[in-house]
Amino acid sequence: MKNYENVTIFNHPLISHKVAILRDEKTSMKEFRELVEEITTLMTFECLREGVPTVAKEVKTPLETCTQYVVKDNAIAIVPILRAGLGMVNGVHVLFPSARVGHIGLYRNEETLEPCEYYCKLPEGIEDKLVLVVDPMLATGGSACDAIAMLKKRGCKTIKFMAVIGAPEGVSRVAEAHPDVHIYVSTLDRCLNENGYILPGLGDAGDRLFGTK
Ligand code: PRP
Ligand code: URA
Repeated sequence: MKNYENVTIFNHPLISHKVAILRDEKTSMKEFRELVEEITTLMTFECLREGVPTVAKEVKTPLETCTQYVVKDNAIAIVPILRAGLGMVNGVHVLFPSARVGHIGLYRNEETLEPCEYYCKLPEGIEDKLVLVVDPMLATGGSACDAIAMLKKRGCKTIKFMAVIGAPEGVSRVAEAHPDVHIYVSTLDRCLNENGYILPGLGDAGDRLFGTK
């Protein structure tokens, strides 16, 4: 895959350790859910290093008064792509409990692999927030591209996208379609199979999170 300025691949040993357990077909639904949350929290920490609106606050310590920067109220929105993106919301909320949540419902047509929209409900004023779009899997990139396009149409100007596992095909597609959106992927996998599944991947993230298969 080409090097893109707007793509960060984590390759962090702690995240890699957790991804190994996540991939394992024997990992239970409960552990899978917990791991997706933990990986999301670790990624969020780095993903929000830049671009978070802050304001100066005066704080009186027991010794003196100082100025400390804090995250601006109401500055961040999380937008999970349904369903599997839901599994990442708590992982961000651990760090930003007050982040508003919007939902975009997309499912992939199993034959064409094209995303179909079935739901969209976004918080008021989302256009002025830093929007963090989350989905564990970035496969062909169709769902991520469409979700980001929907948010831009709604007026959102600052968007970041975070996925646990990405395929080179999908990462390139989103990076090129949305050069103004930074993409964070914990692990870059080899390729897609003929059904659009990521190899080696972890299977169907939605089914593993919600026990639907
Ligand atoms: C999965 C996944 C992404 C999408 C990725 O969702 O959670 O949203 O596929 O594939 P893409 O990059 O090729 O678009 P799916 O459509 O299976 O729906 P689900 O989350 O409801 O299971
Ligand atoms: N969606 C998933 O859940 N897994 C894949 O490998 C590809 C798309």
